[in-house]
Amino acid sequence: MSRLVCVSNRISPPRKSAAPGGLAVGILSALKRTGGLWFGWGGETVDQEPGDPEIHIREGVSYATIELRAKEFELYYNGYANQVLWPLFHYFLKGMRYSAEQRDAYENVNRTFAQKLLPLLEANDDIWVHDYHLMPLARRLRELGVQRPIGFFLHIPFPNIEMLRVLPTYAELLRDLTCYDVIGFQTHNDLRGFHSGIEHLFGAEAIRPDGRLKIGERVVRAEVFPIGVDVDAVQQEAITALPGEVVRRMTDSLMGRSLMMGVDRLDYSKGLVERFSAYRHFLETYPDNLGRITYIQIAPLSRTDVKAYVEIRQSLEQAAGQTNGRFADTDWTPIRYLNRNFPHATLMGFLRAAQVGLVTPLRDGMNLVAKEFVAAQDESDPGVLILSNLAGAARELSAALLVNPYDSRAVGHAIQAALSMSLTERRERHGAMLQVLRRNDIASWTRRFVEALQESQRESSPEPPARETSGESPMRLVRGLQSYRA
Ligand code: G6P
Repeated sequence: MSRLVCVSNRISPPRKSAAPGGLAVGILSALKRTGGLWFGWGGETVDQEPGDPEIHIREGVSYATIELRAKEFELYYNGYANQVLWPLFHYFLKGMRYSAEQRDAYENVNRTFAQKLLPLLEANDDIWVHDYHLMPLARRLRELGVQRPIGFFLHIPFPNIEMLRVLPTYAELLRDLTCYDVIGFQTHNDLRGFHSGIEHLFGAEAIRPDGRLKIGERVVRAEVFPIGVDVDAVQQEAITALPGEVVRRMTDSLMGRSLMMGVDRLDYSKGLVERFSAYRHFLETYPDNLGRITYIQIAPLSRTDVKAYVEIRQSLEQAAGQTNGRFADTDWTPIRYLNRNFPHATLMGFLRAAQVGLVTPLRDGMNLVAKEFVAAQDESDPGVLILSNLAGAARELSAALLVNPYDSRAVGHAIQAALSMSLTERRERHGAMLQVLRRNDIASWTRRFVEALQESQRESSPEPPARETSGESPMRLVRGLQSYRA
């Protein structure tokens, strides 16, 4: 039996109420199923050389956290990851600020990750790296002699080569990705984007008819693994939270009004400004709803040291204030806009209480809130999901009311359609989506990816490993494995 080692920029131990984001939810459920190690930055920066990883074990999962140097972290995380890769991969060129200094810090942090992870690795590990912060990690681990299978899953979109080419170091990025054995994307669109880059760099013949990539001697699997949710767990959380104090206080305060919910990290890619303007259109176009609907938007602050996030926050405060100033009454506030977070279970309770779920990102890798909204509903009287057709989730959740998030008027009409939809239609749409979610839940996402990783090892090493015995020092085993794969 191999051990699963997940690596991500940030680790989110279960006791903390992390900002909503697919990555933490996905990794945690993967590790809870299989046990294993989660390695990443623990959230602290230091001025001196970072020490050894700190290790905590909880419910069968080991958490190994490292510190990063403050200056390097600033350039790597606020800089390269979130002012270059994030905007570029979400097709927001306006927000992109490239600098070679940031790029160097990104490389250095990836080197640090590899060096600190190496002594923790065991002979039978399958390594699964997550997201855009760590694209060069496989190359760095290979340089240190790691020969075990390494997979990479990108939680955000992958752009087409014409967009990717804006990045001065796009070719290196593509080459770095080919150091993985398995590369996973959320949707076929993302895989097509990646293929366009591979074709551009290595020629069309690098993509074999069976879909595998052949780059020199290496064979790489690049496939689609849409991330899912744990349907039963979400349902259970939602059912339990609904009568709980926090959710009940909220539902009591509605005084019988309909509830529309949005839950997003405060990020410009989530389309919140456009969403607020759609709500304004809706109230103008369908004035019968004045005083009859409450829209709660939960938007915990995120990446607050990045300029674009400061700006979007200001725009949203202004937009929410304008709508409330214009439409509110002494006993009714049209938008309740909250920059705070809640425990996951409470959020699921809020989603269950809502008649409408509004998920309208301008671009999103998947968007798990959309899936969680569906899973949290009462099957006998479900709410309606309004979903951006630019979110990865729209590929699977085609029974939602699909909208173009830039078209505020159309989104306004969709809100009205959702509020007046018959029970029969709501059940039909919800039933269809629930079926999709059950077929591709978080367990099958994990299983499929880990199986692909294990198969990739069998494909590239027909001989069983000679030196996979426990009791040896991790360093020695890593070197031993290197020789059998060489
Ligand atoms: C998205 C990204 C994740 C990230 C999360 C929270 O879901 O894909 O990699 O962890 O946002 O963002 P943060 O910058 O706070 O880690």
